[in-house]
Amino acid sequence: MYRTHTCGELRLADAGRTVTLAGWVQRIRKMGGMSFIDVRDRYGITQAVTDDPEMNAEVAKLGREFVIQVIGTVRERESKNPKMDTGDIEIRIEKLNVINPSVTPPFTIEDVSDGGDDLRMKYRYLDLRRNPLKNNLILRHRMAQEVRRYLDAHDFLEIETPFLIRSTPEGARDFVVPSRMNPGEFYALPQSPQQQKQLLMVAGFDRYFQIVKCFRDEDLRADRQPEFTQIDCEMSFVERDDVLDMFEGLMKHMFEVILNEKFEEPFLRMSWNDAMKFYGSDKPDMRFGMLLRDVTDLLKGKGFGVFDSSEYVGGICVPGCAGYSRKQLDELTDWVKRPQVGAKGLIYIKVEEDGNIKSSIDKYFSPEILREVAGRFEADKGDLILMMSGIRAKTLVSLGTLRIEMGNRLNLRDPHKYCPLWVVDFPLLEWDDETQRFYATHHPFTAPSQKDMEKFFSNDKEQEAEVSSDSYDFVLNGTEVGGGSIRIHDARIQEQMFKVLGFSREDADYRFGFLINAFKYGAPPHGGIAFGFDRFCALFGGQDTIRDFIAFPKNNMGRDTMDDAPAKIDDVQMKELYLKSTYEK
Ligand code: AMO
Repeated sequence: MYRTHTCGELRLADAGRTVTLAGWVQRIRKMGGMSFIDVRDRYGITQAVTDDPEMNAEVAKLGREFVIQVIGTVRERESKNPKMDTGDIEIRIEKLNVINPSVTPPFTIEDVSDGGDDLRMKYRYLDLRRNPLKNNLILRHRMAQEVRRYLDAHDFLEIETPFLIRSTPEGARDFVVPSRMNPGEFYALPQSPQQQKQLLMVAGFDRYFQIVKCFRDEDLRADRQPEFTQIDCEMSFVERDDVLDMFEGLMKHMFEVILNEKFEEPFLRMSWNDAMKFYGSDKPDMRFGMLLRDVTDLLKGKGFGVFDSSEYVGGICVPGCAGYSRKQLDELTDWVKRPQVGAKGLIYIKVEEDGNIKSSIDKYFSPEILREVAGRFEADKGDLILMMSGIRAKTLVSLGTLRIEMGNRLNLRDPHKYCPLWVVDFPLLEWDDETQRFYATHHPFTAPSQKDMEKFFSNDKEQEAEVSSDSYDFVLNGTEVGGGSIRIHDARIQEQMFKVLGFSREDADYRFGFLINAFKYGAPPHGGIAFGFDRFCALFGGQDTIRDFIAFPKNNMGRDTMDDAPAKIDDVQMKELYLKSTYEK
């Protein structure tokens, strides 16, 4: 038997017992004639000790991360360590076996390690021995179990869908897999099991879920991985509110059992229009105020050229920052001009501590007007109003980005405060200037809102642009955690959707024929949602980056630095797959 107990298990009540532990050498200390070994496994650390000269010599041969077995007697410690669960006891070593030696690890296996990012990614299996990462994966496991428990209790069936499917690019690029048995043809890895779950509804399964890998060949960021996991769900015979209620229940369940946070009230449901208008984002961070205000009516048409030529003038009021120096304001102005923010400039109004107004535009506007603007922002003494102007949609987004930045600078984004909400009524379509066509904001199977059906069938681009959809996002602390919609189940509406998107009938048949065909055999009204499980875990773990909630993630270039994928394949494999690389360095 390798062990009788784990390294996190023994307490004072076990004193006197003979036990066997197995684990890794965390550290070794020598003090006078005594040697101490901290033995570590997944469950904790236990101290083993000897004062026997022969045993001391054996301990001296051990190194960090050796796998060892310790047989000995549990006894009360003289100097207890209240920080450790096992800190009241130690094992007096009677026998010590080296199960497997270890070369010196390239970084320390401690909560705060000396290893850089790249090194830790390359030796991920060592990094995963550290508590912070280990605990993230334990959290992830618990969350997956709770998701399953809730959905099972609500009659959802967990059904697997294939990974090798037909390529039907949705938003991102597909990863593709060549088929040896079907020369010249390719599978795609699913960006999500969207069509498959809809087919399961046609098949009558009524409630489906799956915790499933999805694959998207897109540019990576802190909250994006090329392969990531969704909690993917679909329901039949539902309207939007049925779906929202069901998954609000799931979220509340998760908050309660995992974080011990109770949400008694229903989550806020905010229209996409309001989210953009007041937060400059379709994923508003509700942990702090600083809402966007529209002051176009007060400032446009008063002779200041920049505003007069703008569709929109608006801003945010930053509390307590009227003391910002010239230098700080210049730095902020440079910051908003970065392409990621995209503003042309920044205008300020300071309401100083003595109540005086000072502004970068006081040459152009009377103190009365500026005071009225300050009133619109409900600015107090000591507040700083930051404004931008330009095309409405673009300026709102720039202001939204500035709002988040100021929230960060003022430490208003506490990772352990949770502000969930639903954003609803997204526009059905997004116009793309480059290709001069509409794209589905969500995907081509999302139903237009009932109230906008006339506009949807108008065959007029301006009216079509105003159609909202029966879609929704679940947003937590400024992150889009989930998204879904009620689907189209009516062939006439689906046909119109393809028409609006500019697909010919052949195009639509080629891409989605199997789904269109299935819908001819009695498709129930249905809708669903998918949550980004990695993001969900990271937020519950109080972090922004999903990488450390995934056992073996990719780096920013989509590489797995541990096994060095992607890599070339040999000529025989290439030949079998009828492939030739045209890539030249
Ligand atoms: P959507 O594309 O909005 O919807 O994806 C759902 C959720 O998945 C997460 N997510 C990601 N997480 C990590 N890395 C990525 N690259 C990544 N891309 C998306 C987000 C997002 O909210 N089939 C639809 C769902 C439906 O309509 O039912 C879909 O996939 O948290």
